[in-house]
Amino acid sequence: MMTKVLYVSANPKPTELSYSKQVAETFVSTLQAENATIEVEAIELYDVDVQEIDGDVLSAWGKFASGEALTDVEAKKVGTMSGMLEKFMQADLYVFATPMWNFFFPARMKMFLDSVLMAGKTFRYTEQGPVGLLENKQAVHIQGTGGIYTGTDLNFADAYLRQALAFVGVSEVTTVAVEGVSQYPDKVEEIVADAKAKAEALAKEVAGAVTV
Ligand SMILES: Cc1cc2nc3c(=O)[nH]c(=O)nc-3n(C[C@H](O)[C@H](O)[C@H](O)COP(=O)(O)O)c2cc1C
Repeated sequence: MMTKVLYVSANPKPTELSYSKQVAETFVSTLQAENATIEVEAIELYDVDVQEIDGDVLSAWGKFASGEALTDVEAKKVGTMSGMLEKFMQADLYVFATPMWNFFFPARMKMFLDSVLMAGKTFRYTEQGPVGLLENKQAVHIQGTGGIYTGTDLNFADAYLRQALAFVGVSEVTTVAVEGVSQYPDKVEEIVADAKAKAEALAKEVAGAVTV
């Protein structure tokens, strides 16, 4: 069975300037070096169309329920969202690289999650409560932060991402923190090297667990 990796980056910076992307690329290239059956698709959310939930999207969703025809604009917008959803549903392993911006991940990352938390596709409500519809998937969150958040309850971005993924049935999530790069500017090399070593070890573990 082919394992599909979806590498989602939410950072307009090129890799040379983004610590989380550098660590994510180490993770992904180690995975591929370890296991040639692993297929990787990368999406840079700042290079593609990502649809936010707006009036047209809400109107289109209402029309799905009533069976009314969509306008061209509505169809285009929900089409962009479902394209993202398809990629998400087909992948076995997600790799998210995000920077912390003002205590959260960038808005485009929220827009991505808004595209994939879709009732009837990735979750549904039952009388017992919501049920995630995805199975046998896992995720890695590689997060760049200027300060230190490990051991605090202020990492809303990581907590939210974990909640969103758990909601759709992905509860195996590992976070690799690339943290303290603004607080400890003299230690950046060390911080990034440590995070890369963790990412490499994790990639070897994940690649080894993949059944070929
Ligand atoms: C607009 C902006 C807002 C930021 N807000 C925070 C923040 O709230 N907390 C923090 O620890 N670092 C913050 N930082 C620092 C980044 O998290 C840090 O530069 C990190 O390396 C970003 O990841 P990257 O290197 O992959 O881009 C901010 C940086 C920018 C550009």
